[in-house]
Amino acid sequence: MDLSTSFMNLSLPNPVIVSSSSLTATIDGVKNAVNAGVGAVVLKSLFEEDIAAGVERSRKDAAISHSEAEAYMEQLGMLLEPDAYLTLVEESVQAVDVPVIASLNCYSDKWWTDYAERIENVGADAIELNLSPIALDQKTSAKDIENMLVNMVKLARKTVKLPLAVKIGQNYSALPHLANRIRQAGANSLTLFNRYYKFDIDIEELSFKSGNSLSAKEEFGPVLRWIGILSDITELDISASTGVYDASDLIKVLLAGGNAAQFCSVLYREGLEVIGKVLIDLTAWMEKHNYSNLSEFQSLLSHEDDKNNAFYQRLQYVKALRDK
Ligand SMILES: Cc1cc2nc3c(=O)[nH]c(=O)nc-3n(C[C@H](O)[C@H](O)[C@H](O)COP(=O)(O)O)c2cc1C
Repeated sequence: MDLSTSFMNLSLPNPVIVSSSSLTATIDGVKNAVNAGVGAVVLKSLFEEDIAAGVERSRKDAAISHSEAEAYMEQLGMLLEPDAYLTLVEESVQAVDVPVIASLNCYSDKWWTDYAERIENVGADAIELNLSPIALDQKTSAKDIENMLVNMVKLARKTVKLPLAVKIGQNYSALPHLANRIRQAGANSLTLFNRYYKFDIDIEELSFKSGNSLSAKEEFGPVLRWIGILSDITELDISASTGVYDASDLIKVLLAGGNAAQFCSVLYREGLEVIGKVLIDLTAWMEKHNYSNLSEFQSLLSHEDDKNNAFYQRLQYVKALRDK
């Protein structure tokens, strides 16, 4: 049984990817995931805030006056020695024989581009850009937000030659249009979707608290819908993220036209053994359906194959009930 696949022109032994998370924040975590059988790893993100904080610390150490700070920090950002993240990338690439995808969390065009270049230089196979611009005032339009996002992809493409995955949230009103702009800006794949940090309110203490950081399996529905719709109309590869829990979710991703699926919460809940089970169950399903490789069934049920244009477009229950 051949489970290998091509993702952003990288060869993966199988389409199971461990998501960017604390599971991939250390070299041991990366090795454990690969020993468990994943076909690629996405490393924990380097957050732009961390880069900026590092630069700020260096600025303070150098006792630079406030007025000179901005220019100096810009320059210092260029001169910082390779940090722990670059070491993680380098060691991971040396330690494992599956693609290592570094991850950058960016919210502006200020600090991270220099690190993108350094990540490329230490041998990462690709970079996933975790982009989450957010509108918090009435002046910023949807277009402004999309422009910010697309400009960050352009900047990354200008900086590195590596394959670029773009991880976005699901709250966009016209994803096909945005996906096309992301592709034109130079990305190679989309990660659908980022699951943002959840917060909650404690109604007894009248305070804020963290929400559930792990997803529920039920969150997978919108991911499947958008993979099916986008896989037909974009040249971008697609990997699924959010609510992918087992082999059946992975098979659905592939049938809908996706290339790979990222696993995260289920690994926190049930351990890395899940990966072996996913591979066994995927193989058993392929045997049962007489498939010997993934391309024989990939995209069989994308939007285009939804002949009546019913399932992917049907957003409202009213229509579903009337059609019964
Ligand atoms: C503890 C934890 C840490 C995470 N850290 C990152 C991160 O650094 N960068 C990132 O892009 N996503 C991060 N994520 C999000 C996951 O990569 C993933 O997109 C999200 O959890 C949805 O997938 P899931 O339903 O399989 O958990 C994190 C998730 C968890 C639970």
